[in-house]
Amino acid sequence: MGISTFRAAVVRTPGGPGSIEIIDVPVVEPGPGKVRVGIAAAPVNPVDLAVAGGLFHEMGLISQPERTGLGWDFAGVVVAAGRGVELAVGTRVAGLVDGFDRDFGTYAEQVVVPAAEVAVVPDGLDLVAASTVPLNALAAAQIVDLLGDAPAGRSRLLVTGAAGAVGGYLAALAPDRGWQVTGLARAQDEEFVRGLGAGFTTRAEPGWDAVADGGVLQERGLALVRDGGTFVGVQPSAQLGAERGITVSAVTTHPDGPRLAGLLARAASGELPARVHAVVPLDQVADAQRAVAKGGVRGRYVLRP
Ligand SMILES: NC(=O)c1ccc[n+]([C@@H]2O[C@H](COP(=O)([O-])OP(=O)(O)OC[C@H]3O[C@@H](n4cnc5c(N)ncnc54)[C@H](OP(=O)(O)O)[C@@H]3O)[C@@H](O)[C@H]2O)c1
Repeated sequence: MGISTFRAAVVRTPGGPGSIEIIDVPVVEPGPGKVRVGIAAAPVNPVDLAVAGGLFHEMGLISQPERTGLGWDFAGVVVAAGRGVELAVGTRVAGLVDGFDRDFGTYAEQVVVPAAEVAVVPDGLDLVAASTVPLNALAAAQIVDLLGDAPAGRSRLLVTGAAGAVGGYLAALAPDRGWQVTGLARAQDEEFVRGLGAGFTTRAEPGWDAVADGGVLQERGLALVRDGGTFVGVQPSAQLGAERGITVSAVTTHPDGPRLAGLLARAASGELPARVHAVVPLDQVADAQRAVAKGGVRGRYVLRP
């Protein structure tokens, strides 16, 4: 009997979208506490372009001997469950695999993950839309953790890139902790940003109590924070140094099944965005990455493995 395999998109010698290969890899049985998910949808996120381009290999953060997996989040259906797992085969779930240095990812027909790190997708949210939530909504929620509660009278938060995935979730979630949000975005994004309940600007002057940097402005974003304020970035591998008494941090998003369940519920109710630009077959992964690399895309390209 032959070994069963599934298809996965990987890079062996990273060099951009053209270096992505689709290969057959052996099926793995889920151990105790784990589930094997048949992936229905996996979004293309900016981090995937950086992995395929070799950025993190060059930084020494990836040292896979044979191949590096692509893709961080997914939605699909449980196809096998290990010992001690309460999720039944057939349950619709979404989740996140984190870290750069791995030979597997979600640009694949299957993934094996801890059951505690997935969340059941609520009825009323389709798997394609659900797949766009885990990485960026959890990132935003964990950025809000780093911001903490807004100090009384000092609650003006600028969210850069507020029309992007992380920025959009930030604009919607930060008011939970008392922040008054203004979104910095392109002129054509005004309706979307205001629709999240945030203020809107295309040009920000310095003096904000806090800046959450979904637009990856980095030093330019830090310069907008008042002395003694707070800056939270999205690139922990390029974290900025502190200056002018500003508290500086950068998020490293990690899986959190229970929290993801709450975020998916808010997406299902329409309170959080779950934006899809296009659904494409896994075979078109290179074209999808090239399209994302051009910028200006609103909503995710979602791969259907
Ligand atoms: N550390 C972590 O754990 C973590 C987790 C998730 C995401 N991230 C990172 O967070 C970043 C954002 O991800 P994302 O998925 O939200 O990207 P995205 O959807 O492309 O959003 C970025 C947004 O910023 C906008 N933008 C950039 N410069 C701007 C400017 N000067 N003025 C106004 N808008 C501007 C972009 O507009 P245009 O498209 O028009 O340029 C886009 O709407 C990426 O670098 C990603 O890798 C990190």
